[in-house]
Amino acid sequence: MAKKLAGTAKFQIPGGQATPAPPVGTALGKFGINLGQFVQAFNDKTKDAGGMMIPVVVNVYNDRSFDFITKSPPAAVLLKKAANIAKGSGVPNKTKVGKVTNAQLEDMVDTSDEWIVQRTGIRQRHIAVEGETTADLGEKAARAALSNAGLNIEDIDLIILATSTPNNTFPATSVEIQHRLGMKHGAAFDMQAVCSGFVFALTTADQYIRTGFAKRIIVIGAETFSRILDWEDRTTCVLFGDGAGAVIVEASEQEGKPTDRGILTSHLRSDGAHRDKLYVDGGPSTTGTVGHLRMAGREVFRHAVAMITDVIEDAYQATGYTSQDLDWFVPHQANKRIIDASAKKLKIAPQKVVITVDHHGNTSAASIPMALCEALADGRIQPGNLILLEAMGGGFTWGATLLRW
Ligand code: UT7
Repeated sequence: MAKKLAGTAKFQIPGGQATPAPPVGTALGKFGINLGQFVQAFNDKTKDAGGMMIPVVVNVYNDRSFDFITKSPPAAVLLKKAANIAKGSGVPNKTKVGKVTNAQLEDMVDTSDEWIVQRTGIRQRHIAVEGETTADLGEKAARAALSNAGLNIEDIDLIILATSTPNNTFPATSVEIQHRLGMKHGAAFDMQAVCSGFVFALTTADQYIRTGFAKRIIVIGAETFSRILDWEDRTTCVLFGDGAGAVIVEASEQEGKPTDRGILTSHLRSDGAHRDKLYVDGGPSTTGTVGHLRMAGREVFRHAVAMITDVIEDAYQATGYTSQDLDWFVPHQANKRIIDASAKKLKIAPQKVVITVDHHGNTSAASIPMALCEALADGRIQPGNLILLEAMGGGFTWGATLLRW
């Protein structure tokens, strides 16, 4: 005959090191079960946890028998389904073209396809049409991510938008997207870490999920850098493009081990000593204007590889993984030379590197989610794959995330 449930108790105790003293004795004593038996069974099951606090739920039955489940703190899991959008047609001189090729830029500034390809690997980029905004691109990416994941907006607790090109100084562009998606609950906010924005936003989402603050978060990277470029400055206007990508991050119970699915480790850095090497020469509190992007390109290049490899080595150290264990390296797409040099220094095989800079240019915070989504859509990234993300940009800011899809 089935046992009848006498009650349930929930508490947290150190894995492998529980005793019949409180909180076990206090929570279970009233049921008259054999506490020693419970402690023995729990410690056997969690002996590898090294004293880490583990939430446990104990079911006690009328015949004083019991069973229990242990839970590890929820880790964030990136749903396989994600979405990207690299949308736009038309260039600032109003020529009717969908994609802007290097040859088209030759008509605007003193440059050449050969110089751009050799120095950056970029062959084309997408530019938003007149009136098309960061919110438009971000909304499309978020809608596609929801649809691919089979979720409704009611399933989402939070929207985090990484952007340095918001629709307005305020309100946050994410609340515009929240409104358009019909989300009346939860919250939305923007994050600004320039090209590192997506890694910063994903890390933030992961932390919110680990604390139990949110269960599902849309993380969007969306930019319209074409609006802050000086189209007469050949040293910058050939490098950037517009676009957006989005992923949904969901809470999932994992073991707390490097073999988990989801975000395994993230490492973020910034150093404002370099704030004048890549910046916008305007702002609400300084000039009262939007301003234009300015960059000491060679200086940025000089720091990029060292900073990128530094945070990646931190990620390896935190997990015990090395470049040999990776399935895919999805770096920020600023310049193919920086990506190649970083991969070489880290001994990441070229066939594991996802490259989109050739057809998207540098889309700042949108570049990683767009590259990620492209590699998902064409089947390169498969469930269980170990993936390394990294970015470096204005601030300087830089960061790396290691995750298992
Ligand atoms: O995502 C945020 C992080 N941003 C980056 O990671 C960008 C980092 N920097 C870079 O990717 C590279 O420094 C650039 C692609 C921006 C420039 O490449 P470089 O090899 O560092 O070139 P350079 O700045 O040293 O310029 C070399 C020459 C210069 O001419 P002189 O002084 O040698 O006569 C430039 O004036 O190339 C000239 N130049 C150009 N020529 C044709 C600069 N821009 C252009 C251009 N077309 N568009």
